[in-house]
Amino acid sequence: MSSLRRLYYDLFSKIYDFIIRHHSRDIEGSLRTFITENTNLSKGDRALDICTGTGSVAAKLAGQVGENGLVVGLDFSRGMLEKAREKAFRLNLKQLHLVQAYADQLPFKNSSFSGVTCSHAFYELKGEERTIAIDEVARVLRTDGRFCLMEHAKPHKRIPRLLFYVRLFFLGSKDAKKFLGEEESILGKRFKNVAGQMSPTGQSKLISAEKGG
Ligand SMILES: C[S@@+](CC[C@H](N)C(=O)[O-])C[C@H]1O[C@@H](n2cnc3c(N)ncnc32)[C@H](O)[C@@H]1O
Repeated sequence: MSSLRRLYYDLFSKIYDFIIRHHSRDIEGSLRTFITENTNLSKGDRALDICTGTGSVAAKLAGQVGENGLVVGLDFSRGMLEKAREKAFRLNLKQLHLVQAYADQLPFKNSSFSGVTCSHAFYELKGEERTIAIDEVARVLRTDGRFCLMEHAKPHKRIPRLLFYVRLFFLGSKDAKKFLGEEESILGKRFKNVAGQMSPTGQSKLISAEKGG
């Protein structure tokens, strides 16, 4: 099943940025700026973006941590990572590194990162995968490091809401609908200072959470 999803994303990677720009009307990348600004990262920090896709959030994080920092963009799709690599090259982001791996098997030592982000992907993780991924994020974060999770908000209008449920049906996990309403309490079991807010576009919500001592 996950190899089918990987294949889907390998193919989707060719048109992903184009579709996202038009679907979300997020031409200026304001959503990506919104998530990275909430990470509280400083110059020289190390950050991880899981399910990085074409690396849009990772590229913003790279700007935030600067040339002396380090950002890892992690994804299981080779196609997505190739697009992310092109982006890093085009923007001359030498501090951005790309790794092919699964979100529930992070190939990093404990407490490696000051911040971890995940944008519009966590609801897709199946079954135990999501629970283990949350534990993995907590493991690789340093104490007081911040996890910023951005997910789709349920659209108010009828047609977009229908399309949203169609997407959940095909791409989300069985409990994706439930997860998308309960992110804060789920993260609250593993993290402290969990807080949610709507994005300026009104189409996404951001949950930030910190690792306790
Ligand atoms: C909807 S895209 C989001 C991409 C990016 N975060 C963004 O906001 O544009 C979901 C991404 O998650 C990746 N993905 C899905 N399940 C994964 C898993 N179990 N491990 C690693 N990556 C995964 C897919 O390959 C895809 O690139």
